[in-house]
This record gives sequence, C-alpha cells and structure tokens, in this order.
Amino acid sequence: MPKLKQPFMKKILIDRPPSDFKTWKTLKSHQKKIASTSIQQHFKNETNRLDYTWLEWENFIVDISKNRIDRKAFDLLLNLAKEVELKGAIEAQFSGTKINETENRAVLHTALRGLDDKPVLVDGSDIIPELRATQEKMYAFCDKVISGEWKGYTGKPITNVVNVGIGGSDLGPAMIVEALAHYGNHLAVRFISNVEGDHHLEVLKELNPETTLFVIVSKTFTTQETLSNANSIRSWFLNQAPISALAKHFAAVSTNTKKTTAFGIDIENTFSMKDWVGGRFSLWSTVGLSICLAVGPEHFKGLLKGAGKMDLHFRKTPFNQNIPVLLALLSIWYNNFWGAESEAIIPYTQYLRNLSAYLQQGIMESNGKSVGRDGKRVNYQTGTIIWGASGTNAQHAFFQLIHQGTKLIPADFIGFKKSLKGNKQHQNKLLSNFIAQTEALMNGKNQAQVKKELDTIGLDIKEQKKLIPFKVFEGNKPTNTILIDKLTPVSLGGLIALYEHKIFVQGIIWNIYSYDQWGVELGKQLASEILEEIEGKKLSLHDPSTSKLLSKI
Ligand code: F6P
Repeated sequence: MPKLKQPFMKKILIDRPPSDFKTWKTLKSHQKKIASTSIQQHFKNETNRLDYTWLEWENFIVDISKNRIDRKAFDLLLNLAKEVELKGAIEAQFSGTKINETENRAVLHTALRGLDDKPVLVDGSDIIPELRATQEKMYAFCDKVISGEWKGYTGKPITNVVNVGIGGSDLGPAMIVEALAHYGNHLAVRFISNVEGDHHLEVLKELNPETTLFVIVSKTFTTQETLSNANSIRSWFLNQAPISALAKHFAAVSTNTKKTTAFGIDIENTFSMKDWVGGRFSLWSTVGLSICLAVGPEHFKGLLKGAGKMDLHFRKTPFNQNIPVLLALLSIWYNNFWGAESEAIIPYTQYLRNLSAYLQQGIMESNGKSVGRDGKRVNYQTGTIIWGASGTNAQHAFFQLIHQGTKLIPADFIGFKKSLKGNKQHQNKLLSNFIAQTEALMNGKNQAQVKKELDTIGLDIKEQKKLIPFKVFEGNKPTNTILIDKLTPVSLGGLIALYEHKIFVQGIIWNIYSYDQWGVELGKQLASEILEEIEGKKLSLHDPSTSKLLSKI
C-alpha cells in the first residue's frame, strides 16, 4: 500500500458529478430524440458528415463517422468537456500538479516521453535531469547486453531475458515486445507474472542460467507474485551458479532500491522509477527495460517519440479535432446515454493480439470506480468493460454476438495500411476484412436484401419466409476506425498514448480519481490471511462457503 504523505487530499480537480451539468441533461433528451435514427440515416441527413467526423493526425486516420451521433450530439459532447473544465485538468496533469489526490502524487508518465527538456516541477524541483540520466543508464546497459559486451558468469553473452513482474510491470512490456517483434534483435524475451509455480518452472526449463538475464520489475518491490517468483528464480539460479554471479544475471526496476539491494541486486543494475509514474502507465519508464533490450534503445526512443507527439496533440489541439478527447466523449455517449456496458478493441494485426489485455488494466483499473471526487457514490455508470482480440481471428470467434446479438458493443477497429514484411496478397485480404466489417456492422442487411439473395439461389417462398428472420442483420452498430500507415515503434507509441489520454478524459468527466487503485487491495489483504490458514499457522472465521472451500484445499 502506498505511503501517504501530508498534505493529503488537497482539492485540485473540480469535484462536481457530470449529471449536475446542464449539458448532461440536454444530452439525455437529445439521445431520446435521435435514438431511432440509424447511422445510415445520419449519413443521409448530413451530406457534410465527414467534415466533422474524419480526423487526420501524423500518419493516423481516425474515422468516427460510423457512430450514433449527429452534429448536435457531437457539439453537446464537446460542451460537456468544456463544462467539466477538461482543459484545466489536462494542464494540471502535464504540469505536475498532484492530481492523484488520494495518493498525493503527480501523474507524469508524459514527462518520460517529453519531446524537449523543458523543466517539469514536482515539489518545486525539476524532474527532467534525473529522468534523462536514468534513461541514459538504461540505454547504456541495454547496448552492452545486446552487443554481447555484457558477459554472464561463465563469459558467455546473454541470449535470453526474463521479465519478472505483474500488472503494469508485466502487461505493457509483454504487449510491446510482442507488438514490435519485427524490430527485435537476437535476444529472446520471456515473461513470468503469475504466482502459480508451474508458470515460472515452465519458463525456466528452457533456460540456461549462464546466458539468461532476469529483470525483476516491481514499482513497490513488495508485490507477492513478483517477489515469490524472484526468490524462487534466485534459488534456481544459485543451485547452478555462485553467489558472485548474481550481479551478472539479475537486474531490477523499482522505486524501492533498499529492497532491491536487500534482494542482492547490484545497484549498477538497478533502474529507479518515481512515484509519479503509475504502474499501468509505466512502460515508458525503466519498466520498459525488457522492451529496450528486445528492440534496442533507438526503437525504444521511437516509442517514446510517438507517445510524445500524441501528448502534444492531446494538449494543444482544439477538442473538436482532438482524437483522445473525441474517442473518450463517444465512449461516454454510449456508456452513459445508450446503456452500453462494454467496448471491443479489434486490432487487425496479430502483433497486437494482446492490446486489449493490456488496455484492460489501463482502462478498468483506472476507471473502475464508484465513488466520485466529492467522496460520494456516483449515480451514473463509470468504467467500461474492455475486451477484444485480433482481427480476423475475432471474426470467427465473437463477431456473431456483435452483429446479431442483443447487446450494444461499440468497437474500435485498428488497422495498418502496410504490412511489415511486404506480403501484398495477405495484406489486401486482411484490409478487405477490416473495412468490410465496419461497413457490415453499420449497414446490416435488411429483409429485402436477404430475400433477393434467396431468390437468386432459387429457394421457394415458404422456405424463404422461415429463413429470412435469421439472416437479417439489424446494422446500426457503432465503430471507430483507426487506420495507421504502418506498425512502427513511433506509431505504436502514439496509439498507446491515445488510449491513455482517453482514460484520463473519461475519469475527469465521470468525476472520479483515475490514478489510484484501492480496489485491488482487499483481495491482496485477505489472500495473505488465508495463506496463513492454508499453511496451518492460524484459523479464522469465514462465511460457510469460504470455510467449506478452505476445508477442501
Ligand atoms: O494490481 C495492482 C498493482 O498495484 C498494479 O497497479 C501494478 O501495476 C501491479 O499491482 C504491480 O505492482 P508492482 O509494480 O509494485 O509490483
């Protein structure tokens, strides 16, 4: 649990529920007004629809036209952003104000990817010089390992890297290492996260301690899963190597250098991070060490640069052309005015198959809150449920439900114009699916169209009548299309930063604190008590279900 420093809970952000604002009420009545107008109809009504729903930035195209909005809804949503003083909140975040009020912390993952060295002050001190020095230390270390200059305890170069961490200390690096595999070097990077013993043993069985580097990543260096895995791996290693070898094979990333030193990790191989970097926003920091090892410092810098450019776009662009702001507003539109509970994220590339798993933590750990910044229970829905998989695989898994099910599921379709390895035939097929799906979701297929198809195959009228209802697609399913030139470190950095800012905007509007995560504490607390019970050290009172389950273990 983070240590709380005084002063605590100093009010910085406004704390009015969005439902108090005039625009919220107007949005409600406007939604009722346009509820029966289909997206197709909006296109017919608005000949200039693409003028305000088509966005271009760097090599991104973001098409938000296939949504259940009209110009009035769009303007009202923008007005809501104004009413909640979003602009001021953005500035407060970027300038290092302690907007994470329940933990009394600044939120400055953006400083890690700043495009210049302009001072950013936390508690009156400029954080940039130390940040740059830490980055340089990380780059130098990675260069040595990648080039083979860094030798293991028997004089062999490192060939395998294992990132040991969980949550933000695992999901971001794991997702990016896979996403940028095309840009990778000879180092094979693996990830151990779960406390389940089989998990680390499965990974270790393929590894040679002489050529493996373990990177222990834990912001707090107290997380049960990471520490248990790190200790078991240390024992496995020391069963085969002398204690002096630890310095060559273990590195750490943490804010808690006392604990990393106590664990036995050389301070030279310890990379610090600061409390103003939240776990789920930390891949840009030294938490990205495994990424930097996998793709090298130049590509890692590319990732930072892409995110830095998106930061600038978010901070400086008027809201009516601001990609993260508009995607956040649309998400609020469906969540709070249309009753949508979840959102799907479908990247059309296998490299990003873990994007939704990564964003689940970012989005759901940040905005899964039910108490407003005013300390009161909110009376509206907050955080959306995030899920997804890569296209086209997802089409053969859950798209049936999106097309013909009863639930409203807004979806982001993310595609890349160019493939990385240049296979045009496959890329054309991939992109045809990418485009076809959003068109199909919007337009659907009506009875007349189905009938015409059945006529063509000669099905008799009686049979047609029976079959038609099952073959109709209602359509009117909303999607955003994000079309990017190519999957590169720079474009990926921009894409991730886009979603980070979307989270922030939604948290501001929902009047919640997006940067704490008290909701994960209770389970952790109980698990440590139950562990003592499982180990026979103590007996506690539980409800009948829990007691019976415990008796079976
Ligand atoms: O799941 C809760 C959490 O605190 C996350 O926010 C964080 O990313 C993860 O645990 C790991 O924490 P640490 O890096 O301190 O081990």
